[in-house]
Amino acid sequence: MDESIAGNRAHWNTTADHWVAPGRRSWSTDEVTWGTFGVPEADLGALPDVTGRDVVELGCGTGYLSAWLARRGAASVVGVDPTEGQLASARRFQAEFALPFPLVQAAGEAVPLRDASFDVAVSEYGAAIWADPHRWLPEAARLLRPGGELVFLGNSVVFMLCCQDDDSPPTEQMRRPQRGMGRFTWPDDPSVEFHLSHGDMVRLLRASGFEVLDLIEVYAGDDVADATLCSGEVEFVSAEWARRWPVEEIWRARKRDEVSLARTERPSRRPPPF
Ligand SMILES: C[S@@+](CC[C@H](N)C(=O)[O-])C[C@H]1O[C@@H](n2cnc3c(N)ncnc32)[C@H](O)[C@@H]1O
Repeated sequence: MDESIAGNRAHWNTTADHWVAPGRRSWSTDEVTWGTFGVPEADLGALPDVTGRDVVELGCGTGYLSAWLARRGAASVVGVDPTEGQLASARRFQAEFALPFPLVQAAGEAVPLRDASFDVAVSEYGAAIWADPHRWLPEAARLLRPGGELVFLGNSVVFMLCCQDDDSPPTEQMRRPQRGMGRFTWPDDPSVEFHLSHGDMVRLLRASGFEVLDLIEVYAGDDVADATLCSGEVEFVSAEWARRWPVEEIWRARKRDEVSLARTERPSRRPPPF
């Protein structure tokens, strides 16, 4: 198994227990929200209408986003995640909330599901930041039918440039270069995160067969408190920072059909950033 996939699976198996309580809170509501500060989907409009459509979630974790989309009327939802501990939580919540759907153990880089079998692919802090984008974005395109939509949320570029290595909150100072950003590792932690600059992401989405529909910056609302990490003890980001800069951003893209693929100019020859 690839080193980043094995490291991330180990990390998520170790930390899965911390996400049971937040997972249960999310399963307990029908309102779709996004990001650390729970911004309502009604304010952002990131999702297409999923009614009657086949949906796959890449990096589903505890599975609440899939559950929300099933409750919104999706014809089918499938959750994909490489980590046993997270899938065990998802299975537990499916039983608790009487909402079963298929769960598949796999990384976003190599999903054992048929080509062109979904209308919508989503990822909320799943494959979006834990899988190598040079592999999971082409994989998402393979899974989607022509015209199918991809929606994924990860940390914003500005957050990644301002955050610190030791988990303390981001400051107003940039701490690392944007040039060459892509693969992020942390002291004393086997996990690897992937965050591309906007230019690199646009080029990669296009080279993977997508047209870019939108990039939505997710800012904290006026009435929210500072956010802590899931343990509740360590401050993650202050509400004041997150009202001025987005902690997360949501990409929306559509899989091009064969005709528009043939019309598109050749993908950039620029080498991948990492
Ligand atoms: C913060 S959780 C996000 C999932 C979900 N939104 C939740 O909060 O339960 C991150 C998930 O990404 C998964 N993950 C780790 N490596 C991955 C990979 N290579 N491909 C897809 N998902 C991965 C982890 O197992 C974990 O369940």
